[in-house]
Amino acid sequence: MHDATFSRVRQGLTGKIKEPKVTVRTKMGEIAQEMDDVIAMGPGDPDLPTPQHIIDAAKNALDAGATHYTAPPGDPRLRAAVARRIKQAQRVDYDPASEIIITTGAEEAIYMALVSLVDAGDEVLVPEYRFTTYDWGAELSLGSVVEYPTVYPGDEYRLDANEIAARLTDRSKILVIASPDNPTGGVASRADIAAVAELAEARDLIVITDEIYHPFVFDGAEHHSILHLPDMRDRTLLVDGFSKAYAMTGWRVGYLAGPADFMRSIIEVKHALSICAPAVSQAAALAAVEGPQDCVAEHLAIYDDRRHTLTAALADMGLSFVHPAGAFYVWVNVSSTGMTAEEFVYRLLLDTGVLISPGTIFGHGGEEYMRMSLLVPKERIEAAVERMEAVIARYRAGVGR
Ligand SMILES: Cc1ncc(COP(=O)(O)O)c(C=O)c1O
Repeated sequence: MHDATFSRVRQGLTGKIKEPKVTVRTKMGEIAQEMDDVIAMGPGDPDLPTPQHIIDAAKNALDAGATHYTAPPGDPRLRAAVARRIKQAQRVDYDPASEIIITTGAEEAIYMALVSLVDAGDEVLVPEYRFTTYDWGAELSLGSVVEYPTVYPGDEYRLDANEIAARLTDRSKILVIASPDNPTGGVASRADIAAVAELAEARDLIVITDEIYHPFVFDGAEHHSILHLPDMRDRTLLVDGFSKAYAMTGWRVGYLAGPADFMRSIIEVKHALSICAPAVSQAAALAAVEGPQDCVAEHLAIYDDRRHTLTAALADMGLSFVHPAGAFYVWVNVSSTGMTAEEFVYRLLLDTGVLISPGTIFGHGGEEYMRMSLLVPKERIEAAVERMEAVIARYRAGVGR
């Protein structure tokens, strides 16, 4: 007889799946649901609607019969459009027929890449603060992640090849980089990207470059893709998508690009995971890439305005943060409040109804940080800031702790 505490199925759960913890995030979500007038500055889902011409194209596509599977690597017209998009953003040529697979969100592209590359015992280098899907891809494949720092004293962001080099072992196989970066908003400089490329070459690393935030860089900063550097194309996979650029998170469409021989080998992986990305979403993505691009510039300007509002207010409150040069987040250091991030965001939610993600959900470190997203209207950011200002002095004085 099996232990009646758990179902037979539950007993079969592989050790690769870590025990679900009641995390602060879950608890806070439950509390927020019961509260009125919560200002949610946690999630990475744009509040702006998908532009109308993209929605119209999807409606038309449904009427025209986009209700079937497409080829597993995606609609050839979308792959061709993505090749043009990559040429423009990353300045590299990819063959649409053999080097691009359309995925069910960039999320699936990350998972496909890692599950196809990681063997038991392999090490995957990841930023200390990160989008933790990388961990799932590595660990479900029985590999492990090794963190390299990207935030330095004074809350300076840097992608530093020396830090990565210092953590390499004979099991290091894959290096994940993300610029513009979630959650820090950091953008790697051309020189730093070049040094990382040199390291990857010298130590024979495979690079996964997640560039999903590439349209969003501020203050004249430039997006530099490692793919543009000599000899990188052969050892690099590009992860990108439409969720962020065109406010299309719910459509679930992204892409993976890489050398033809590798991409050919993993088409069956794509088939096994989801056969193809949703046909209607592929039609929407095609309209996004081929249609007018003013919407991206408009969204960028809106995020930039919100960024100015929030960072000025944080500075006034004496909260330090990483200068957000890209993406749409602010990585805020809460140590001056004398609380951990989890304590701070929990208390802030209860006292003020402002919901923010603690840094601990972006990797094992992160106790000193919280991620605020710029994905609520400016008036709501101003209201959130007012609510924070009303309590922060009390928190710093230790009142109520
Ligand atoms: C760095 C990064 N990569 C990938 C993704 C996944 O995006 P998608 O919605 O295309 O699956 C996200 C989503 O937040 C992200 O922040």
